[in-house]
Amino acid sequence: MYIASRFRNLAGAAALLAASAIAQAQALPNVMILATGGTIAGAGASAANSATYSAAKVPVDKLIAGLPELSKLANVRGEQVFQVASESLTNDNLLTLAKRVSALAKQSDVDGIVITHGTDTLEETAYFLNLTVRTDKPIVVVGSMRPSTALSADGPLNLLNAVSVAASKDARGKGVLVTMNDEIQSGRDVSKAVNIKTEAFKSQWGALGMVVEGRNYWFRAPVKRHTMQSEFDIDRIDTLPPVEIAMGYEGVAPTAITALAGSGIKALVHGGTGNGSVADRIVPVLQKVRGDGVIVVRSSRVPDGFVIRNAEQPDDKYDWVVAHDLKPQKARILAMVALTKTSDTKELQRIFWEY
Ligand code: DGL
Repeated sequence: MYIASRFRNLAGAAALLAASAIAQAQALPNVMILATGGTIAGAGASAANSATYSAAKVPVDKLIAGLPELSKLANVRGEQVFQVASESLTNDNLLTLAKRVSALAKQSDVDGIVITHGTDTLEETAYFLNLTVRTDKPIVVVGSMRPSTALSADGPLNLLNAVSVAASKDARGKGVLVTMNDEIQSGRDVSKAVNIKTEAFKSQWGALGMVVEGRNYWFRAPVKRHTMQSEFDIDRIDTLPPVEIAMGYEGVAPTAITALAGSGIKALVHGGTGNGSVADRIVPVLQKVRGDGVIVVRSSRVPDGFVIRNAEQPDDKYDWVVAHDLKPQKARILAMVALTKTSDTKELQRIFWEY
């Protein structure tokens, strides 16, 4: 009798524990982590290797297992979409990832999505998702500047913060976000500004806010169109038109522009000096590029500021588009997306003002 009653008590306790675990899990948001590689999945030979390491080594399940604190924030599931260093991602990779994000965002059992990503091209992926994924659920792109094996690795806290933001109701409707170094950045505005510090990502217009110990502190909101407000939809985009970049610098020759223009591209982004200036010997070369039917987008290599239309160059006369405040690599992303819809330069310029 005694053993039977003890057994009944134990069984009852186990049932209670199971019920409370289920209740807790049901109370927590569901966050998907899509892993693509990068340093956040990197591994070095020793803890002292903060800069010498191999990126894209640690699988997503190991990243999640190494961060038990995640289970207090959300029910987390991982999916390894790619395992590459981000400088090697392709347009096809971008389409595959964005379509997966879009499909998951439509699922009622997904409340937020985190994408772990190399920091080199994180800004381009974040902007592409911002333009093409039609959801107001939080989508958070995150990376790290040090590999997980290094002393004072920044990846674990960056990932914890990313899941925390992706699980937050107040992060909805703010466009694609990037969490690095405790800051919450806009996927549109942010760029990698330093290539060797953990405080690497900046936006000239400032971070949207900060995330500290699981709480978001917001200080501004995006004003450019994104996600649900976008006229672009990844579910209707299956290929991206080729768009390339040519930089402006002292002594520049027309060689690169001429070669790129003859390679079948649909648009050429010119990363000019200053306010998008074009060397006098390059102006006729770009006029010919435009005359041959290739869209010319005038951007600037200068990290901050924005290109003023018809200031350094008569854009109306040459039928060129200006990139507004977008740096060449971001202008290229928007040009590719915009060209899936139109090649009318007035429409393209509207799109560059609005996104
Ligand atoms: N190869 C770089 C990349 O995957 C490493 C930089 C990083 O992820 O921080 O973007």
